[in-house]
Amino acid sequence: MKNRLARIFNQKSGKTVMLAVDHGYFQGPTTGLKKPRETIMPLLPHSDCLFVTRGILRNCVSPATSTPIFLRVSGGPSVLGELSNEDITTSMKEALRLNAVGVGTSIFVGEKNEDRTISNLGRLVNEAEEYGMPVLAITAVGKEMARDARYLGLACRIAAEMGAHIVKTYYCAEDFDKVVEGCPVPIVIAGGKKISERDALQMAFNAISKGAAGVDMGRNIFQSENSVAMIQAVRAVVHDNYGVDEAFELFNKLKEKKVVDSVVE
Ligand code: R5P
Repeated sequence: MKNRLARIFNQKSGKTVMLAVDHGYFQGPTTGLKKPRETIMPLLPHSDCLFVTRGILRNCVSPATSTPIFLRVSGGPSVLGELSNEDITTSMKEALRLNAVGVGTSIFVGEKNEDRTISNLGRLVNEAEEYGMPVLAITAVGKEMARDARYLGLACRIAAEMGAHIVKTYYCAEDFDKVVEGCPVPIVIAGGKKISERDALQMAFNAISKGAAGVDMGRNIFQSENSVAMIQAVRAVVHDNYGVDEAFELFNKLKEKKVVDSVVE
C-alpha cells in the first residue's frame, strides 16, 4: 500500500498530478478523447499517473510506459441513463494483473442510488486492503446538487469513512478548506468543464493553497489549445509552488515553442 501511494504522490512535493482520461466510460468519444491514444501518449511523461479504464489502457496506452496506472473500476450507465446506477465492473484480479497503483469508483451522494454506490466503495476497499491497493473515491455530483462546501464536505467525509485512501472532488470557491479539514485522507480535485487556461490554473492554485493534495484533471488539460503546455503549467502550480501569473506565463512560453502533440511510442 505504501509503495503504491509513493508512486502516486511525488516524493518531494507530496502531491500528485493525475491525468483523468476515463470520461468515455459513460460519455463515449467525448471532445479531446475521440482518439485517446493521440491525446494520452504525449501527456504521459508529464503525468504522475493516468486515471483510465482497462479498455482504453489495453487499446490506447503502450504497456512500455513507466507512468503508473490508476484504474477506473466502476461503470454501468451511459450519459443517456441514470448515472448513479453504477456497479464495480473491473475485478481486483484484473487491476493486479494490469499492475495498477490504485483503483477508483464513484459515489453518488444525494442521488437515486447513493446507498448502492457507497456500498460499492466499501466492498471495493475490503478487497483492496487484502492486496495493498489504494482506493480513490470519486464524489460525483448529481445534476440537482450544489457544488458547495456543505455538500462536497459531506460526500468527501463519507468516502473517507468507508475507507477510501484518496478522495476526488470538485473545488468550491467558498470554504474549500473546510472540505479538506473534514476529510482525513488526501483530496485531489477534478477540473470539471473546460474553462480558460488561466482560470483553470487559478482553480488549481486555490485548491492547493487550501490543502488539496493535487489534481486529477481531465478536460482542462486534454481540451486545452496546447495540452502538453497546460499539463506542465499545472505541474508547476502543484509541485513547484508557482503562482498563477508565473504558471500562465510558463503555459504561454511553452505554447509559443509550439510543443508538438505528436504520438510518443
Ligand atoms: C468523470 O468522468 C471522471 O471521474 C473524471 O475523471 C473527472 O471528472 C475528472 O475529469 P475533469 O477534470 O474533466 O472533470
